[in-house]
Amino acid sequence: MDQPDARSQPYHEPVMLEEAVSWLEPARNGWIIDATFGGGGHSRELLRRHPLARVVGIDRDPDAVSQAPAGEPRLTVVEANHRNLRDILADDRFPDRVEGILFDLGVSSHQLDESERGFSYHREGPLDMRMGPDAPQTVAELIDDATERELVEILRRYGEERYARRIAAAIVDERPFRSTRELATTIANAVPAAARRRRHPARRSFQALRIAVNDELAGLGESLDAAIDLLEPGGRLVVIAYHSLEDRIVKRLFADRSTECSCPPDLPACACGATPDVVVLTKKPLRPSEDEVARNPRARSAVMRVAERRGER
Ligand SMILES: C[S@@+](CC[C@H](N)C(=O)[O-])C[C@H]1O[C@@H](n2cnc3c(N)ncnc32)[C@H](O)[C@@H]1O
Repeated sequence: MDQPDARSQPYHEPVMLEEAVSWLEPARNGWIIDATFGGGGHSRELLRRHPLARVVGIDRDPDAVSQAPAGEPRLTVVEANHRNLRDILADDRFPDRVEGILFDLGVSSHQLDESERGFSYHREGPLDMRMGPDAPQTVAELIDDATERELVEILRRYGEERYARRIAAAIVDERPFRSTRELATTIANAVPAAARRRRHPARRSFQALRIAVNDELAGLGESLDAAIDLLEPGGRLVVIAYHSLEDRIVKRLFADRSTECSCPPDLPACACGATPDVVVLTKKPLRPSEDEVARNPRARSAVMRVAERRGER
């Protein structure tokens, strides 16, 4: 059944809003980067709570950038990929280092719900799924060009799809595809009847193709690494992930950059090369409350981690 159209829905309901704003409290008088601006829910709340804070919003989607409220002098929103964080901050309008950085990964509700963007297996639309014009290919083009093996790999790795082989074979058999519905129907027909009962059989494949086409994971480590370098001492990095592979990248990077020197104490100088530059503040990842998930089911897979830059302020 078709879902209600995106135009009748709010742009995006911010996830773990209270938690994100609280962890970024030490940045209340400084500069904060919202690296995934989306509908600007987190940015707006940060500006509302902290009258002295300034926010730089970043989004690769021109549609999200166009939603930015006009006439808010403390907010600047730029269309860019957060992979280019260092270049973005090199702009004269911004400082070299900031007090807080937020990444709220994944897609916005608006992107998912707007049929024309082609993200949804529920809605008829062009098979696109690019978050922004910087993504080199649409999903339709990726499917045209990929080998069956490459498709199996994408479906397995990014979708953890157990019927990856069958689905990839059916896709190769029936391509080209130009619409979301055509692809969703082919996928549904490729899986055993029992697998069609619980959740939509195309859910994992659509997620996998979206991650591949937007190269969502490849650049994430780089972006987070740059984010840590760009924090002032005492500055905080808050990351909300929605996929286990995303969260694994965050967890590993936080572990790498917080590792203490493991040399024996009697060694005159460090030989292991570990120079911890962050402290991880969330020993266990935080999750949204039950109330939030009941109110906003899209929050259910959210996982938040927070790190603080070491050093004297
Ligand atoms: C979950 S939404 C953010 C929602 C936002 N926090 C709010 O409250 O409205 C994620 C946003 O990040 C953007 N995005 C994803 N990957 C990006 C990247 N590599 N660079 C810049 N923006 C990205 C998407 O276009 C999307 O608008």
